[in-house]
Amino acid sequence: MKIRSAQFVVSNSDARRCPEDSLPEYAFIGRSNVGKSSLINMLTERKSLAKTSGTPGKTQLINHFMINEEWYLVDLPGYGYARVSKKDRATFQKYITDYFLIRRQLLNAFVLVDIRHDPQKVDTEFMQWLGGHGLPFAIVFTKADKLKPQAIDRHTDRYIRHLLAGVWEEAPPYFVTSATKQMGKEALLSYIESINERFYKQQADPAIRKEDGKSPRV
Ligand code: GTP
Ligand code: MG
Repeated sequence: MKIRSAQFVVSNSDARRCPEDSLPEYAFIGRSNVGKSSLINMLTERKSLAKTSGTPGKTQLINHFMINEEWYLVDLPGYGYARVSKKDRATFQKYITDYFLIRRQLLNAFVLVDIRHDPQKVDTEFMQWLGGHGLPFAIVFTKADKLKPQAIDRHTDRYIRHLLAGVWEEAPPYFVTSATKQMGKEALLSYIESINERFYKQQADPAIRKEDGKSPRV
């Protein structure tokens, strides 16, 4: 997919006040500092469309960007600094979970994880939370420039094996990316394009059945 236009639309801490139209929407979520905003800039080929920082906690609101006047890309705050409850379960900021529950036009979440790290509980719990609510997601491994190619395969294999050893029967789709090396851009944009196409086909012909849980929620 070619990015013809990318514009900031609105920042919000209230999911109910996000854009009202029903354009397909894709959210980028993950721990603070994992590289969500950098990935968005890489995908859109805009240096500072989304604000980035070396200090965790830069993005504080739900940020909507309109792409090609056709779909939204959403930059979210990190969830790494959420308080952990007594039962040692991760808790996620309410306005973030509200966002995922309210936005019917959200077609896919991208859960970003740093490719160098072992699976973190906060990430796998968030994936489980998405799965439990029937929300389709894909994993995006970030900062792949920090590893050599063999190490990239080793780390991704280990991560997916960890998920399959847990609650997941089927591995989610995943992408290997680097914002600094422009890695993974085509694969990720093609994935979004294919979901968009399915969405518009389904809108034109509601008789087309949803094939599986990964289908757009329309
Ligand atoms: P919050 O908004 O604070 O939750 O962070 P974020 O997930 O949006 O991360 P951000 O894009 O601001 O990047 C955090 C830091 O990681 C910055 O110092 C970036 O330069 C660095 N970074 C992001 N992506 C990459 C990457 O692909 N490779 C390398 N080497 N560094 C990266
Ligand atoms: Mg950010």
